[in-house]
Amino acid sequence: MKSNTVTPYKNRLSKKEQVAGMFNHIAPRYDFLNHFLSLGIDRVWRRKVVKKLKENPPERMLDVACGTGDLAIATAKRIPDIKIDAVDIAAVMLERAGAKIDRRNLGFNVHLNIGDAEDLQFPDERFNAVTSAFGVRNFEDLEKGLSEMYRVLKKDGSIIILEFSQPRKGLFAMLFKLYFNAILPFIGRVFSGNNRAYAYLPESVNAFPERENFVKLLEQSGFKNSYFKTFTFGVACMYYGKK
Ligand SMILES: C[S@@+](CC[C@H](N)C(=O)[O-])C[C@H]1O[C@@H](n2cnc3c(N)ncnc32)[C@H](O)[C@@H]1O
Repeated sequence: MKSNTVTPYKNRLSKKEQVAGMFNHIAPRYDFLNHFLSLGIDRVWRRKVVKKLKENPPERMLDVACGTGDLAIATAKRIPDIKIDAVDIAAVMLERAGAKIDRRNLGFNVHLNIGDAEDLQFPDERFNAVTSAFGVRNFEDLEKGLSEMYRVLKKDGSIIILEFSQPRKGLFAMLFKLYFNAILPFIGRVFSGNNRAYAYLPESVNAFPERENFVKLLEQSGFKNSYFKTFTFGVACMYYGKK
């Protein structure tokens, strides 16, 4: 199944509208559930993205599908003077991000924008780095999103994407499958009050073109030197490419 045909709900709204509505609904519980369901490991994965960024610290960065702002915040805390634009389509996720940024006095570094990743309101070649954590899986048109990220990157700029993937071998893969496909949707439903959000999560991950297939998509979108790295036995992957 193609990832854009996996939608949160079965209704007539577009995937984009459904995704925005779902994240607006779960926004108040999003951070808690993220850290609880991943046992806090999501923070470690984001820090690995920041470590990669620090190899060649960008002056201007765009964080796409920023949600409640965790990647932008983790980056701004560790790369002084960086200017980050962070964009998301879900207004309530952005409200949470804004409150967290204010509490940490990072308003000078991180600017929030409401908008669509597939139609970015930024000029060509504006950023030294573009990132997205757990965002691209939700795009309605993945290729369009990647081509927009390519467009706004400067030459030699980097793209770094963090996304879930499926562990492949052994007992861990078996146990993880059980957790991710059955236990997590149940806990997510109870705590988020949303019947579909945490069932959509494994469904969308299962349909996502991960690892070598996503690297191929990056190359088709124009990125060079692309590769992926697995984290935590393959539960997540970091993808890297250069313009
Ligand atoms: C799983 S959350 C990830 C949030 C954050 N990056 C993180 O690491 O926690 C996915 C986010 O992608 C956003 N999103 C999905 N499709 C989008 C699009 N086309 N344009 C902008 N944001 C989008 C959703 O609104 C949601 O906030």
